[in-house]
Amino acid sequence: MIKTIIMAAGEGTRMKSNKSKVLHTLLNKEIIKYVKSASDFENSETIIIAGKNKSKLENLFPEVKIVEQEIGDNIPYGTGYAASLALDYIDDNDEVLILNGDIPLIKKESLESLIEYHTNSNSSCTILSTLIDNPKGYGRIIRDERGNFLKITEDRDLEDNERSINEINVGIYIFKARDLKESIKKIDSNNDQNELYLTDCVGILREENKLVKAYVGDDFEQFYGINNKFELYKAHKILQNRINMEHMLNGVIIESPNTTFIEEGVEIGNDTIISGFVKIFGKTKIGKNCYIEGSTRINNSTIEDNVRIDNAVIEDAYMEKNSDIGPFARLRPNSHIGKNVHIGNFVEVKNSNVGKNTKAGHLAYIGDSDLGKNVNIGCGVVFVNYDGKNKHRSIIEDDAFIGSKANIVAPVRVYKEGFVAAGSTITEDVSSGELIIERAEQKHIKGYVERKKEKDRSSK
Ligand code: UD1
Ligand code: CA
Repeated sequence: MIKTIIMAAGEGTRMKSNKSKVLHTLLNKEIIKYVKSASDFENSETIIIAGKNKSKLENLFPEVKIVEQEIGDNIPYGTGYAASLALDYIDDNDEVLILNGDIPLIKKESLESLIEYHTNSNSSCTILSTLIDNPKGYGRIIRDERGNFLKITEDRDLEDNERSINEINVGIYIFKARDLKESIKKIDSNNDQNELYLTDCVGILREENKLVKAYVGDDFEQFYGINNKFELYKAHKILQNRINMEHMLNGVIIESPNTTFIEEGVEIGNDTIISGFVKIFGKTKIGKNCYIEGSTRINNSTIEDNVRIDNAVIEDAYMEKNSDIGPFARLRPNSHIGKNVHIGNFVEVKNSNVGKNTKAGHLAYIGDSDLGKNVNIGCGVVFVNYDGKNKHRSIIEDDAFIGSKANIVAPVRVYKEGFVAAGSTITEDVSSGELIIERAEQKHIKGYVERKKEKDRSSK
């Protein structure tokens, strides 16, 4: 069986952050989540080595074995020590895949190839290496004149003549459990950082004439490790390009890929156009022929075909075919927008259903309400859903007309074709076909302005 150890206890000092390195996000997902999902195989079990981030990691992965590495003065430190903490959970016959928790761009296929290579060569340990232009900061693969693997040397422990070696250790290894257990006992902290390096296990096995292989991966971008916030940004760019490219090849038009941020797993139909500064996150599904523009943010929502979205914020919501929203409008959780619905500028919808062909064109708040078909919501209508203690629902039936600046004080029901005059505050149900005017009668005071002017003149 494969046991996967993800090492995530490091202090991440180079991040200069109060937050654990592996919990920083790339396109709305924590770094470590990428590592976990890439290394999740059918016949495998994951063990995460956590540090001060333990409780956060437990929340993130409730089903995963999380082992705590205590961090502090006089306590050993380093990747070798971290890996040793998982050994109690590993059987002698297991294969142990070990990954740094800070390499989020790694692809599952690459890990599968590594495992296959390792199994076929029957080696004690196979490490994943790659060739890069600027190897500074990475551990290097040291080989003999004939090209056989010898050891891994950390950047800070290199001799000057080794600095130009551009084959690096990416931080992914697979060991036979027995050999890992034997070699990890023998490592020491005799190095520039006084740490226990996991990488030393590999050299030890090699010295003992065990078979050690370096599997050279191409596509070096996926082995990118994050140690500081500039690298976080660069990884973000690589991931953004990777995801955007996939959508474009699937038929989505992305006018400005640099300003389009799509989380892994989002689905978008072909001929949809994305234009502007758009973020699409969570479990979102977008249909075909949509037009999404401006500074739009969509999270965990379903958008059917032919929907237009202009500068909107949409969260946990649903928009049916041919509906449109914006500019500058918002759908809050549990909003369901029916076919052909128009949600115009400065309209906010929350926890409400809006039926087919209904229009709310301007400046309205629709909260905790069920609106039928063909309803007209005038400018400035407010669904008054909160009495200071509780929220209440209102119902507006089909073909009703709610005049501008009306207040619908919940709970209230406007029956089919009910007609609410502009400016009315509705606190009781409106019957079908009835017109309700709730406002003071208009008074006409003749000559008022002339009298006022005269008064002002005489007081001067
Ligand atoms: C490590 C490798 C280096 C490789 C590079 C690839 C070692 C000694 N060096 O260096 O050869 O080129 O990754 O990116 O392994 N961690 C713990 N506990 C610890 C220390 C670290 O869990 O005590 C975790 C960190 O959270 C991190 C991972 O191990 O996820 C790697 O640690 P890091 O300090 O980033 O190692 P590098 O110096 O980058
Ligand atoms: Ca690192």
